[in-house]
Amino acid sequence: MIIHEAEFLQSNTNFQKCPEPIWPEYAFIGRSNVGKSSLINMLVDKKNLALTSARPGKTQLINHFQVNKKWFLVDLPGYGFAKVSKTSRAKWAKMIYSYLESRENLMMIFLLIDSRIPAQKIDLEFINKLATMGLPFVLVFTKTDKVSKNTTNTTVAEYTKILSETWETLPLMFITSSEKKIGRDQVLDYIDSCNKLFVKPEKVNPL
Ligand code: GTP
Ligand code: MG
Repeated sequence: MIIHEAEFLQSNTNFQKCPEPIWPEYAFIGRSNVGKSSLINMLVDKKNLALTSARPGKTQLINHFQVNKKWFLVDLPGYGFAKVSKTSRAKWAKMIYSYLESRENLMMIFLLIDSRIPAQKIDLEFINKLATMGLPFVLVFTKTDKVSKNTTNTTVAEYTKILSETWETLPLMFITSSEKKIGRDQVLDYIDSCNKLFVKPEKVNPL
């Protein structure tokens, strides 16, 4: 898929205030600092469309971007940052889970995993939560430019093994690097194929 244009639309804390769900939507989630905002910028080929930072906790809201005037990308705040109060954690959970559960045009969740480190409990818990909620998701292994192919393969194999113990079907997995633009075509082609399956929710006014 060729990206002709990508623009920021709005930021929200409440899914009910998000843009009308008339286009297929793809949400990016994962641990703080895993590279969600960077991946979005890499996909649309714009350096600073989504704001990134070396310090975890940069993205705090539900951020909508529109691509090619035909689909939405959503940059979400990460989980698992140690320096976060219990109250903020609860706020995150309320905002994120109500968005994920209720957003009727949400075609796919891209769950980002750091390829450099062994499987983390918090990521496995989030995967199981999404699966239990019946939400569609794929795994995206990030920052592969920072490690050897061998390390990435080991991490992917570990997730495959652990998830196979519980789930019959495994999620699709993408290998990416925002730095080196690895995995861009694969992710965009996948979004393109999902776009074709989108059916506009009925109660929304026709365009
Ligand atoms: P929060 O919004 O805080 O949850 O983080 P995030 O998941 O959006 O991460 P972000 O994209 O802001 O990136 C975090 C840091 O990782 C930044 O310093 C990025 O430059 C760096 N980073 C992201 N992706 C890559 C990558 O593919 N390769 C390398 N080498 N660094 C990356
Ligand atoms: Mg971010």
